[in-house]
Amino acid sequence: MSGDILQRLLDTIDWGRLPAHIAIIMDGNGRWATERGLPRAFGHRAGMDSLKDIVRICGELKISYLTVYAFSTENWKRPMQEVNVLMDLLVEYLGREINELCQTGVRLNPIGRLGELPLRAQNALQAAVERTRANEGLSLNIALNYGGRVEIVDMVRSIAEDVKKGYISIEQIDEKLVSSCLYTTGQPDPDLLIRPSGDLRISNFLLWQLAYTEFWHTDILWPDFRRVHLLQALVDYQRRERRFGGLKNVNST
Ligand code: IPE
Ligand code: IPE
Ligand code: MG
Repeated sequence: MSGDILQRLLDTIDWGRLPAHIAIIMDGNGRWATERGLPRAFGHRAGMDSLKDIVRICGELKISYLTVYAFSTENWKRPMQEVNVLMDLLVEYLGREINELCQTGVRLNPIGRLGELPLRAQNALQAAVERTRANEGLSLNIALNYGGRVEIVDMVRSIAEDVKKGYISIEQIDEKLVSSCLYTTGQPDPDLLIRPSGDLRISNFLLWQLAYTEFWHTDILWPDFRRVHLLQALVDYQRRERRFGGLKNVNST
């Protein structure tokens, strides 16, 4: 049955109009565990399987960029034990998946204030970045200790520094320069943002980059999110009309 649904979705997709960049807020791990009477850590572990499946299908579909929100600048407010579990799972994920990531051409690009992460996480990230550096398939941005506001603060600081040093003038500050000073420098803005688990907010994710992104949300919790849901999101995305502030099909005035 689910194979039928998958096939129907695959038949519906217009392969020439896939999004170049998909962003996902991987939310709902805690609720998934609580629903089962399990500690929240089980939900975070189960969420890793969803990530594995989604990275794999994005690679198969030849999506260029996938940005996943794994740990926000606000998530430090959680109990230390939960933060530790999340950091341990990150290290485990990288160790376990690195071979497959390499085989499938995935290039890992962590984004966020990485220098504030625990050393074990920084080391594992650095090793994975080095090993995947030359890969030319999917660019996987993992947002860690990431906050959209902090990213904007970092951008403002770097531009201010360049102005102070006389490298650029104030007149040269434009949207292109701002974009190039964000963590996603050189990448197109996300075409599609997916938020599972029913909450309708962006929770400080990619504040600048989401200006004209199509939002897609579902009540499915992240640990239950699989390729069939991603394909459903793609089908819905392709039905949308993106106007970017203009008008549709304007041939004459
Ligand atoms: C997402 O799941 C993982 C992180 C935010 C790190 P949550 O832990 O937020 O799960 P819920 O929202 O409590 O269900
Ligand atoms: C957003 O989820 C951050 C990540 C998924 C990493 P949260 O669970 O932290 O967001 P809020 O608190 O519901 O807005
Ligand atoms: Mg949450």
